[in-house]
Amino acid sequence: MTPNETPEKVPAVQTENLTRLYGSMTALDTLNLTVNQGDLFGFIGSNGAGKTTTLRILATFLAPSQGTARVLGHDVVRDADAVRHVIGYMPDFFGVYKDMEVTEYLDFFGACYKIPAAKREKTVVDVLELVGLSEKQGALIGALSRGMQQRLGLARVLIHDPQLLLLDEPASGLDPRARIEVMAILQELQRLGKTIIISSHILSELQTLCNRVAIIEKGKMIYTGPVQGVRDQLDAGCVYWVTVRDNAPQALELLKAHPSVTEAEAVDGQVKVTLKDHAVDPRFLAETIVHGGLTLTGLWEDELGLEEVFLRVTRGETQ
Ligand SMILES: Nc1ncnc2c1ncn2[C@@H]1O[C@H](COP(=O)(O)OP(=O)(O)O)[C@@H](O)[C@H]1O
Ligand SMILES: [Mg+2]
Repeated sequence: MTPNETPEKVPAVQTENLTRLYGSMTALDTLNLTVNQGDLFGFIGSNGAGKTTTLRILATFLAPSQGTARVLGHDVVRDADAVRHVIGYMPDFFGVYKDMEVTEYLDFFGACYKIPAAKREKTVVDVLELVGLSEKQGALIGALSRGMQQRLGLARVLIHDPQLLLLDEPASGLDPRARIEVMAILQELQRLGKTIIISSHILSELQTLCNRVAIIEKGKMIYTGPVQGVRDQLDAGCVYWVTVRDNAPQALELLKAHPSVTEAEAVDGQVKVTLKDHAVDPRFLAETIVHGGLTLTGLWEDELGLEEVFLRVTRGETQ
């Protein structure tokens, strides 16, 4: 099967029980990951979760210990050559050739992919335009800002027009502006039909960018699906804040005693209440306070940020 014949419905990535050991340490533990063609897919986990290990396996740089991984239908072990043709892999740290000119550098990689010289020139112009570096053609790489070097890295992985991009924390270490520029390029690439997997240890960074995400921790999948589903599926609980005119300690005792309350604590004179789940009707909070003879002065739901949800889920799990 050549890349051009890849049927639409073959997943861009499919792993089955993918496992990788380093010595006796299990870095990836029976991971089942599916990424569909056309996805802009966020691969999220704290440091040491196993993101780089997974991406290196998909890029055929590292062999699985057990389980399988297929990229656009090609097995990463048996059909490694075919996989290399359809992916563009940008590692978390890549050396740049500081004394080379931008065009020279891209031309060099084009030659590595055996793109004929005549075609190469246009390809280099095209990818530079895509990443917004057309004006830097003749510049020395060492003179580019960090954000520009990162965009040049993107240009490099685009040179052979791969269908799937594997980007390992491409935004880390960038200032907010450079990060936004990288994200905008990724959206454009998705629009052009590429499938993109981008890893990050910051969930909120990918919140608006990606249509689907996977969250891994200690080599295990803890969530995969749309970003909007993270909060529900991870069952973050439901937090309310209650304030009373006086006697907050009594309010705390009253709420603590209620069967629908999992946790209640005093924080800066307010009572923070965690309910069992979102199905619980929170009106009982007000009733409990009023029936207890106290004056309710405030009751509001805590807007639990996605990052907080993520931290709660992974808390204590990170090495
Ligand atoms: N070459 C290696 N030898 C031994 N342990 C490694 C090696 N590479 C990664 N690890 C360990 O495997 C786990 C997963 O690492 P990694 O895939 O780099 O995670 P992430 O990219 O999510 O930070 C970590 O505990 C890390 O220390
Ligand atoms: Mg990593």
